[in-house]
Amino acid sequence: MIANPFIKNRIQPMKLLFAQILILIALLLASCIKKQAEVNIIPKPLEQKIGNEAFTYNAETKIIIGINQNLETLGAYLVTQLSNINLKSEVQYLEDINSTENAFIIQLDRRLDDFDDEGYLLSVDRKKILLEAKTIKGLVWGIQSFLQLIPVKFFEEENHMESFSVPEVYIKDKPRFSYRGMHLDVCRHMFSVDFIKKYLDIMAYYKFNTFHWHLTEDQGWRIEIKKYPKLMSVAAYRDSTLIGHYRDQPHTFDGERYGGYYTQEEIKEIVQYASERNITIIPEIEMPGHSVAALAAYPELACTDGPFRTATTWGVFEDVYCPKENTFVFLEDVLSEVIDMFPGKYIHIGGDEVPKTNWKNCSDCQQLIQSESLENEDGLQSYFIKRIEKFLNSKGRQLIGWDEILEGGLSPNATVMSWRGIEGGIEAAKFGHDAIMTPGSYCYFDHYQANPNFQPLAIGGFTPLKKVYEYDPIPDKLAEGASKHILGAQANVWTEYITTPEQIEYMILPRMAALSEVNWTGRDKKDWADFQKRINAHFNVYEALGYNYCKGSYALEFMLDESDQNKIEIRSEIYRPEIRYTTDGSIPTNASKIYKKPIKAIDIDVIKAAIFVEGEMMEEPGEFIIKK
Ligand code: ACM
Ligand code: ZN
Repeated sequence: MIANPFIKNRIQPMKLLFAQILILIALLLASCIKKQAEVNIIPKPLEQKIGNEAFTYNAETKIIIGINQNLETLGAYLVTQLSNINLKSEVQYLEDINSTENAFIIQLDRRLDDFDDEGYLLSVDRKKILLEAKTIKGLVWGIQSFLQLIPVKFFEEENHMESFSVPEVYIKDKPRFSYRGMHLDVCRHMFSVDFIKKYLDIMAYYKFNTFHWHLTEDQGWRIEIKKYPKLMSVAAYRDSTLIGHYRDQPHTFDGERYGGYYTQEEIKEIVQYASERNITIIPEIEMPGHSVAALAAYPELACTDGPFRTATTWGVFEDVYCPKENTFVFLEDVLSEVIDMFPGKYIHIGGDEVPKTNWKNCSDCQQLIQSESLENEDGLQSYFIKRIEKFLNSKGRQLIGWDEILEGGLSPNATVMSWRGIEGGIEAAKFGHDAIMTPGSYCYFDHYQANPNFQPLAIGGFTPLKKVYEYDPIPDKLAEGASKHILGAQANVWTEYITTPEQIEYMILPRMAALSEVNWTGRDKKDWADFQKRINAHFNVYEALGYNYCKGSYALEFMLDESDQNKIEIRSEIYRPEIRYTTDGSIPTNASKIYKKPIKAIDIDVIKAAIFVEGEMMEEPGEFIIKK
C-alpha cells in the first residue's frame, strides 16, 4: 500500500506550525529576557544610552585616528592599554568613516566646538566604535570610558582571549568641575617612579586631571635641585623614623637611615607620562614652614643658628625659613628649576602650619615688620607669600597655597586650597579668588575608612566611602556668583602612616572612585545606590588587576521609622550585605536571623546586628536600643 501522501502532508503542516509557534514563543521570550549589558562606568557619564547589540573587539579590529590631528601619541597610548590585556593593535589613519568597519575610530571634530574642552562622545554599535571630542583631553577621557566597557573577564584571563564584546552604548559626557585632583605626599614616605606612574594610571582611569605632588617636608626633600647639592645629600635623608602612632608614648624609633629623591630626569619622565593621560602636575615646595630638612642642609636660611636635623617624627616644627634676602635668593633659585621641570600653570608653595615663635624672637624678622610697616607676624607671612607670588607671576605661573595664606592678607592672584574645613574656600571665593576644596573630613584619604580596630594603622579620623560620595564641593552658603570660583575638589594622601605602595592603593581605593563622581558627575546625577552597584563591579577589576583595596565600612546604621509601626531599618554602605541580627540581647552569630526587611520594634528592647561574609562576622556588632 502506498502511503497516502495527503495524510502525511496534512500532518506535516500541523507539526510545522506547532514548531513555528514554539520557535516564535522562544524568540519572544528570549527578546524579553535579553539582558541589557551592564555598564558600570565611574564617574557616571552625563548621558548614557545602552542598546541591546554589541561590538566584537578582536585581533582584526583596527585603531583608526584622524589625519593631521596630532593623535599619534594618543593612539600609541591606546595601543599600550590594549597590549596590557594581550591585544596587539596598530594605528592607521582614517580614510572614509562611512565604509570603515571593525574599527575603533578616534577623531577630533570641529562640530563639537561649543562642547566642553574635556567632553567627548563615544558610540559603540555592531560595526564600529567611534570616539569624538573637541580636544585631545576629551579623547583621553573617552578612552577611559571605553576601557571601563571591557569585560572584567578579559583582565582576569591568564591565557590570551581572542575577542571580547563591547556593549552598544551612546555616551555624551563632560565634567562638572575643571579641577579634579589627587595629592600624594612622597616625603614622609617615598614611592618609586613606577608606582607614581601606577598612581597616575589609576587617576586617569577615574578622569582626575591634576596630580598635586607634595615634594618637600620636614622629614625629607625629594626633588633634585642642581644649584643646591646638599638638598640631595643632606635634606633628602633622615637618620631614623618614628615607630607606631605619634600619640603612643614614649616615642620609639627604627634607627634606620631613610630617604631618596627624584632626579630631574625622572621628574621629566613622570611629567610626560602624566601629560599623555591629560594629567597636569602641581609640584609643592613648602614654605615658610615644613622646611626643617632644607634647614638641615642650609642652616643659614633659618632665624636661629641650628644645627638642624631632618625630622624623624611627625607634626609641626618651629624651625621655619627666615624671611631674609638670602632665603628669597634660595627659594627663587629652587623655584626656577622647579618651573623648568613642570610646565603646568600652578606652583604650590604650601604655606600651612607655620609657627611664628622664631619670627617673634628674631631681630631680622622684627626689623622687616617695621621697615615694611607690617602689623605682626601674620603680616610677615603674607609679605613672604606675596613676594614669592610676584616672582612666580613674573615667570608666568600662578601661586596656590593652603588656606593659611589667607591670614594677614591674601596675595593678589593666589588660589586657595581649603583644607581646614570649607571656610577658607568660601572666603577666597567671596573675594574673587579661585579655590580648591579639600576639607579634612571628606577629602583626607589618610583617615580611616572603616572601624580602626580592624584597619591598618592610620592617622585618625573617619572618612568612609559613603561620606566621600556625599560631599559636594559647592558650599550651600556660597552665593551663586561666587561659586564659579570653586574649581573642584581634591583628596590628600599624607603618608606618615602609609609606608608601602600597597597601603596607598588601600587608602585610595575605592574612595577615589567616589571622589571622581563628586568632581565629574552633576549634582542631580549622583545616586549612591547606583554607585554602590557600579563600585561593586569595579572591585572585580581591582581583584583582576591585583590592586589592594578596602571593601568598605561594615558599620551599621539603624533608622527608626516612627510613622510606620516603629519599624527599624538597618543600613550599610556594603553592597547587598548579609546582615544577621538578634533581638534577645545576644551577640549575633552566623546562625542568627538574616535581616531582609525593617524590623517591627514591638516587644523588643534591643537589636544587635552585624554583617557576615562567608560565615564570619565583620567588625563588631552594631546595637540599637529601643526607647520605651
Ligand atoms: C595640611 O594638611 N597640613 C595641609
Ligand atoms: Zn627670622
